[in-house]
Amino acid sequence: MITHTFRGRDFLTLIEYTKEEVDTILDVALDLKRKFALGEKHRLLEDKTLFMIFYNQSLRTRNSFEAGMTQLGGHAHFLDPKKIYTPALEGEEEAYSTERVSDVARVLSRMGHGISIRMYGDPVGWEYGKAHRIFREFAKWSDIPIINMECDKYHPCQALADVLTIKEKYGNDLSKRKFVMSWAYSPSIEKPLSVPQSAIIGASFTNINITLAHPKGFELDPEVLDFVKKNSENNGGTFEVSNDMEEAFKDADVVYPKSWTSLENIPPNVPEPRLGNTKELYEANKSWICDNNILTKCNNNVIYMHCLPCDRGFEVTNEVIDGPHSVVFDQAENRLHVQKAVMALTM
Ligand code: CP
Repeated sequence: MITHTFRGRDFLTLIEYTKEEVDTILDVALDLKRKFALGEKHRLLEDKTLFMIFYNQSLRTRNSFEAGMTQLGGHAHFLDPKKIYTPALEGEEEAYSTERVSDVARVLSRMGHGISIRMYGDPVGWEYGKAHRIFREFAKWSDIPIINMECDKYHPCQALADVLTIKEKYGNDLSKRKFVMSWAYSPSIEKPLSVPQSAIIGASFTNINITLAHPKGFELDPEVLDFVKKNSENNGGTFEVSNDMEEAFKDADVVYPKSWTSLENIPPNVPEPRLGNTKELYEANKSWICDNNILTKCNNNVIYMHCLPCDRGFEVTNEVIDGPHSVVFDQAENRLHVQKAVMALTM
């Protein structure tokens, strides 16, 4: 276990953490999960405050951070960016309705112990990478840790919960296991790439064999793919990409089918977001659904994962998500435990 490098650190992406550090976070999460189950007090952040700035809606993230801070003895403070002066980058400010990110970060740093942010999609005009750049600007000016509650590139808290759930089901040695992160159809064309990108980043810290499956046109960020390939191989796993859902699901032990948008139709690849243009691409791939039929290709004890919320009847059938293979509520619960670990270690 490593403990000396966490205090005061930002938590923006797992890419900036080592395998030992990721394992430490998961160890601490399991310890806190045990204490929570037994009703043992663990007030590690007594009287401390986490500021949470939500540009997008949330059920799991907001409630797991708020409940987590209560259980750690502190307080999580919800901030609606429209009800403060909306944090803005230099050059994008509007008189008396925005406040420069550098000022917001320095003010909150004088009052609390952590700042967490969720931002993707509309608040940044769907410009891929811009939300993450804004998080970096917060981190540059803040004296207290910045925690990523999901940006346009990464959702590291979700990834930790995903890895913890897989390890709980299959143990620490995953060398014989196959993990499939798959695109799935949804009529909603506005889902960021953060979950699939972070899910494969998280999995690459184990020795599991990763397959990324998607129709052509739904490629992920090449920088992420490059990291996942190298990190996975360093940790004893493998990484491959497939454009065939049925082929990818063959002999899978873990499947994680969810929808994400096409990078080809959002800035900076095009001057303006043209999400509507992707409709044809989506409709051509309506058969990418997780149903009981496709689960027959997998190993018998396959687990079905989804970060939630999911689009029932499109990404997945009711029989699968409510059936014996589904671990989606374990995943949701584990958000609480991993985030408490991140907060306890960094704040
Ligand atoms: N999985 C996830 O981040 O859920 P919310 O959008 O409800 O926070």
